[in-house]
Amino acid sequence: MSCVIALTGGICSGKSVVAKKFSDLSEKISVIDSDFISRTVTQPGSIALHMITKYFGSSVLFSNGSLNRSILKKKFFLILKIKNGLKNCYIQSSEKKLKKL
Ligand SMILES: Nc1ncnc2c1ncn2[C@@H]1O[C@H](COP(=O)(O)OP(=O)(O)OP(=O)(O)O)[C@@H](O)[C@H]1O
Ligand SMILES: [Mg+2]
Repeated sequence: MSCVIALTGGICSGKSVVAKKFSDLSEKISVIDSDFISRTVTQPGSIALHMITKYFGSSVLFSNGSLNRSILKKKFFLILKIKNGLKNCYIQSSEKKLKKL
């Protein structure tokens, strides 16, 4: 019998430490580290990094062409905030219009 355990938590909450403890328990336990995967697929020259740069602009890159995660994070959450703000404005104005009907 096999099972899958998902480790989630806030930044610096101890996910990697717990994942290491799991993998140290037995060779049969495989750990899939999404942080490692995301760093691997966004290496300079990768399709993912090309797409990220196309969408967010070259300011998300360091001068050596690698991904500046800190800038990307700021841009990503700013866009998300704007999108949610616009969505909420639209919902509120739609609700007002519906109430008038
Ligand atoms: N139970 C604990 N008690 C005290 N310190 C801990 C404990 N678990 C982890 N730490 C420490 O907290 C820090 C963050 O741990 P860890 O890197 O495992 O977190 P993380 O959730 O994987 O972080 P990230 O979100 O950056 O990937 C490390 O310095 C680690 O040694
Ligand atoms: Mg970690």
